[in-house]
Amino acid sequence: MIKDIQNEILKLKKEKDVCILAHSYMAQEIKEIADFTGDSYALAVKSVNVPQKTVLMCGVRFMAETVKILAPEKTVLLSNPVAGCPMAEQMDKEAIQIVKDKYPDYTVVAYINTTADLKTICDVCVTSSSAVKICKKIESDKILFIPDCNLGAYVAGQVPEKEFKLLQGGCPTHAKISEKKLLEAMEKHPNAQVLVHPECQPDVVKHADFVGSTSGIMDYAKESSHNEFIIGTEISIAEELQYACPDKKFYPMSMDLICPNMKSTTLMDVYGCLMGTFGEEITMDEEKRLAAKKCIDEMIRLG
Ligand code: 13P
Ligand code: SF4
Repeated sequence: MIKDIQNEILKLKKEKDVCILAHSYMAQEIKEIADFTGDSYALAVKSVNVPQKTVLMCGVRFMAETVKILAPEKTVLLSNPVAGCPMAEQMDKEAIQIVKDKYPDYTVVAYINTTADLKTICDVCVTSSSAVKICKKIESDKILFIPDCNLGAYVAGQVPEKEFKLLQGGCPTHAKISEKKLLEAMEKHPNAQVLVHPECQPDVVKHADFVGSTSGIMDYAKESSHNEFIIGTEISIAEELQYACPDKKFYPMSMDLICPNMKSTTLMDVYGCLMGTFGEEITMDEEKRLAAKKCIDEMIRLG
């Protein structure tokens, strides 16, 4: 049954000249029919040069918006219109403008998990894989980092020469990982290395052997000579790693580490999107697109 739908999707995407991008948190059956899978940075950069006229994003809304900002000539589809990222919707432009006015000498660094609207007033965008490098490179030594205070705290620790202001935003899924749960997992698996996403709380991150993006965690585990790993990010990463490296052992830090937004996309949604019966076309006012593009261009230039 799954194979039949996958074959139908592969046929349709060829006929309709569609490139399917799938974030690393997507279900395995979706990743199998994608042209490219990866973390949010890789998907954003990849989308610019794909030859197809249409890009179908299997991920959350800000990822599809990023593609539209970078490739306005393409038709950009979000496979499931309810797939949003709660962190991206935590802070709006009006609220951040007030903070900006209060701290005019701070450079506003926005995690890519933000709306296109908010990006219009930010100076530079970062992803989890590029944040440290970019914050080191930008000229200013005063950084207002939004919206994720956990990622912000991690970056601030790696870039001690600069002053950071953080706001209280963050990811509700990664917030489920507590230091207590991690210590229990470490006691149960004393030989395992701890690999975490920087969206985790600082009390969790401080125990990590490696901190990185979704792709960074996967690359590290695949290349490592270690055989056991505790994985501190959405459960799909431990699942994919177990599938890719059957001789190694991967323990999710907690079984409830499921992002309901990412997991709202199904294979049938992708099929419906290609058939024109489901999904949403992302459209954007040109003035807003150009204003939002500036901070993404800065990310690509510095990253
Ligand atoms: P990555 O940049 O690691 O793909 O992270 C995106 C995300 O939403 C993680 O929760
Ligand atoms: Fe957003 Fe967190 Fe889900 Fe990533 S895991 S998409 S940050 S809610």
